[in-house]
Amino acid sequence: MAALVKQPMRPIRPDAMPKVMRWFDERCAGSKAMATRAQAVIPGGVQHNLAFNHPFPIAIRQAEGAWLSDIDGNRYLDFLQAGGPTLLGSNPPAVREKVVAVLNECGPVTGLLHEYEVKLAELVCRHMPGVEMLRMLGSGTEAVMGAVRLARTHTRKRWVIKIGGAYHGWSDQLVYGMRLPKTGRMEAVGIPRGATAQTQECLPNDPEALRRLLRWNRLRGGTAAVLVEPFGPESGTRPVHKDFNAQVRRLCDEFGALLIFDEVVTGFRAGLSGAQGYFGVTPDLTVLGKCLTGGYPMSGAIGGRKDIMMSLVGGIGTTSRRAFVGGTLSANPMTCVAGYHALLETERTNAPVMAGRAGDRLRRGLDEIIQRRGLPYVAYNLGSIVHLQTSGVLLLDTSSLLKLIRVKEEARRRKHMMEEMGAAFTAHGLISVAGSRLYTSLADTDEVVDEALNRFDDVFALV
Ligand SMILES: Cc1ncc(COP(=O)(O)O)c(C=O)c1O
Repeated sequence: MAALVKQPMRPIRPDAMPKVMRWFDERCAGSKAMATRAQAVIPGGVQHNLAFNHPFPIAIRQAEGAWLSDIDGNRYLDFLQAGGPTLLGSNPPAVREKVVAVLNECGPVTGLLHEYEVKLAELVCRHMPGVEMLRMLGSGTEAVMGAVRLARTHTRKRWVIKIGGAYHGWSDQLVYGMRLPKTGRMEAVGIPRGATAQTQECLPNDPEALRRLLRWNRLRGGTAAVLVEPFGPESGTRPVHKDFNAQVRRLCDEFGALLIFDEVVTGFRAGLSGAQGYFGVTPDLTVLGKCLTGGYPMSGAIGGRKDIMMSLVGGIGTTSRRAFVGGTLSANPMTCVAGYHALLETERTNAPVMAGRAGDRLRRGLDEIIQRRGLPYVAYNLGSIVHLQTSGVLLLDTSSLLKLIRVKEEARRRKHMMEEMGAAFTAHGLISVAGSRLYTSLADTDEVVDEALNRFDDVFALV
């Protein structure tokens, strides 16, 4: 990865790019018209801030298994997988039928207890080593926000340390050091300084720096929590060493801080016991989302040690000192039935392992193409999370203010290259996560992966 960012970019050739863009004009007239309509009433025409949208978003009509179809009748191999939650592939009938049955019986929400809430919580507690109790919330963002509040309530301490570059949703406190490490408040537009004043960031894979921060914090209010994405920032875009999480665990114990694993991406995708099961490191609190409800809405939850979880308001037998969280639609029957049956299917089909094997096959094939064509790109995978770094924009060294200023213009150019690469993938019937990440699913058979590799080969022929 260091070599990739040191050398000049290898984008799609200037003579090939117009052909890619022509494909959108000729084949995506419906999507283009829809995107134009959307722009009039939706800021930027896109509701998903992180969604890929170059040259315009594709309007999807049908999603099934490994395939997406747009409103113009084009078919795509889907490695976005809705941003991660559909580990079983899109719209599996086994889950949908159960959801429809509950909808027919009680609609999506009643505001009172439903059996599926309990069944889902029991199932998650059975699988996740660090989860003794579970509280559902509306999204990963909300769950992170709640977990941080809970950590402060429980420890009565002040600081929260995250790993630079990690994404933990968009709550005021955590739009800090986002995407690129040591960028602090760079993205914190519209967020008062006070909101991030007790958030700190630390470089990935640097336990000594973490220790220094923890030591320093001890003198001024203490550290309530260290918050990590266990595969490394941005779902392993900057992977961590295998023993990093265990080192963080030991440091948290030494300094009396809670360890929070943000398993919004890794939860159930890395295995039913999550990344915590994989690493054998048990966090005090776990944040879940995405795969927790198999792609159905209102996917977020805090799980953790019972003594800590009992500080959450609501339910029977809470303690007097409470961290307030809530949500009118949280834990609704539709979400919970979807989650329960998605996880049962995940268990029955061994989906994390099967999707992981597809990830291995995809990465091996990408590696072969990259080597054969002599490209500087880097492909690697953490099971079903496949990273494909072609522009290296997310790997730029921003570890000091000087370096940040130096790479600003380069980051802009590399980002544009990543967008072009994503557009070229789309024009070849491949939907990716922003042109740089590919989620595999249970639906990715060997035939699907091999078909995808042929298409990647066609794209890389344009470089
Ligand atoms: C690691 C991580 N945490 C939190 C979130 C936020 O979750 P949500 O989009 O459900 O708010 C995301 C979303 O991509 C994520 O990747």
